[in-house]
Amino acid sequence: MEVVKKTDAIRDIVTGLKKGGGTIGFVPTMGYLHKGHTSLMKQAKRECGRVIVSIFINPIQFGQDEDFERYPRDFESDHNLSKQAGVDYVFYPDREEMYGKNFETFVEVRKLSRIMCGKARPGHFKGVCTVVLKLFSIINPDKAYFGEKDYQQLVIIKKMTEDLNLPVKIVGCPIIRGNDGLALSSRNKYLSKEERENAIILYQSLKFAEELINKGEREVKKIKNIAIEKLMANPAITAIDYFDFRDPLTLEDFKELGKIGSDKKLKKVLIATAVWIGKTRLIDNIVVDYG
Ligand code: PAF
Repeated sequence: MEVVKKTDAIRDIVTGLKKGGGTIGFVPTMGYLHKGHTSLMKQAKRECGRVIVSIFINPIQFGQDEDFERYPRDFESDHNLSKQAGVDYVFYPDREEMYGKNFETFVEVRKLSRIMCGKARPGHFKGVCTVVLKLFSIINPDKAYFGEKDYQQLVIIKKMTEDLNLPVKIVGCPIIRGNDGLALSSRNKYLSKEERENAIILYQSLKFAEELINKGEREVKKIKNIAIEKLMANPAITAIDYFDFRDPLTLEDFKELGKIGSDKKLKKVLIATAVWIGKTRLIDNIVVDYG
């Protein structure tokens, strides 16, 4: 496995690989890798000739008061995990390499970026789309892999790819959870032991909502209120940004299950939440089949 820091160098490598007829699978990351990331890398390895992973903590997707400075970093561990997962190249640019001095161009998927996490984090998805488009343009992958934990991000990247006719297939990969159900996330590192134990309430609240749906409840407001009550009863939860019921394809808001949706036959609902545990903001989601 080779680590490449310069844009021109990774471009040359990709050109060579493509000349040989190889397909390229790409996994963009911000490092501090865990099993969620390595599952994306392994899927890319199964489906593509060569796998490139990028590690870049993208400053423009963090708000002013957010955790850019303290975002966890461990390049040695990232290197080992990528190697073990069968990655061929790690693209590891610095800020100067990505944004230079006078960076001016931004990309935004407007409506989808202003709901859910976008409400609490204005500008976040604009930063994500800009860096992802830039990485696509540098690496020119055939397929790019994104985790479903960041479900809204996945939908937004798909929309950007479709709107801009980008020649890359976006692949969504399932959430990887710890034994107790907590979705793996680099930000779990911020949790104290006690907060970590309490954090399973996120997944529990989603499963609880699913249980109500399975018992026949169709009124979203009712399910939402009960789930939020359950979350707020947990002493570790300091705030809830949202607990939403949305169309899994379009992120359209659901008021009542079965009434609207991009595909009435599909009968699936995305239940997604973002909550604060102390100073840490965590997100999670499940897709429930209620057909
Ligand atoms: O999901 C992430 O880790 C980041 O948002 C991404 C896609 C690597 C862009 O910086």
